[in-house]
Amino acid sequence: MIEKTFAMVKPDGVQRGLVGRIVQRFEDRGFKIIAMKMMKIPKELAERHYEEHKGKGFYEPLLSYITSGPVLCMAIEGENAIAAVRTMMGKTNPQDATPGTIRGDFSQVTGRNIVHGSDSSESAKREIKLFFNDYEIQKYEKIDEVWLFEK
Ligand code: RTP
Ligand code: MG
Repeated sequence: MIEKTFAMVKPDGVQRGLVGRIVQRFEDRGFKIIAMKMMKIPKELAERHYEEHKGKGFYEPLLSYITSGPVLCMAIEGENAIAAVRTMMGKTNPQDATPGTIRGDFSQVTGRNIVHGSDSSESAKREIKLFFNDYEIQKYEKIDEVWLFEK
């Protein structure tokens, strides 16, 4: 099923100059980038984005981390995109992330794991809406679609 998901290069990924290589992986897979923008996340937006973690021990450090510098926000479309993007990112703790995944290749600790991806269809819808206006989501055909998918 074709799905839309929300993904983000976190502040450490931006600072470490990994934006290009991370975006490249999604493009190489044939995913369609339907929205993209850079922003420094305001505290209130960070709280809404990570509201499921409110009260946990890592919540405050997580808020400081995610608001510490600009991030790259993306909406990505493709077959089974929500789970597929998470698989490409690897396990939350980079020590458990397989080599070949983004976290497994570029990071070492959970608190600096460089990328975010929506974890369910509800999260994807919620997060895309939280970070993008309707007019920022592009609807377009890519010329390789005919070769990426069966008719
Ligand atoms: P994300 O939401 O950022 O894509 O990461 P995730 O689904 O793989 O992991 P989640 O459980 O949602 O945790 C959100 C982020 O909080 C930080 N974290 N730190 N120190 C800790 O035990 C801990 N646990 C989570 C990580 O940055 C994680 O990505
Ligand atoms: Mg999560």
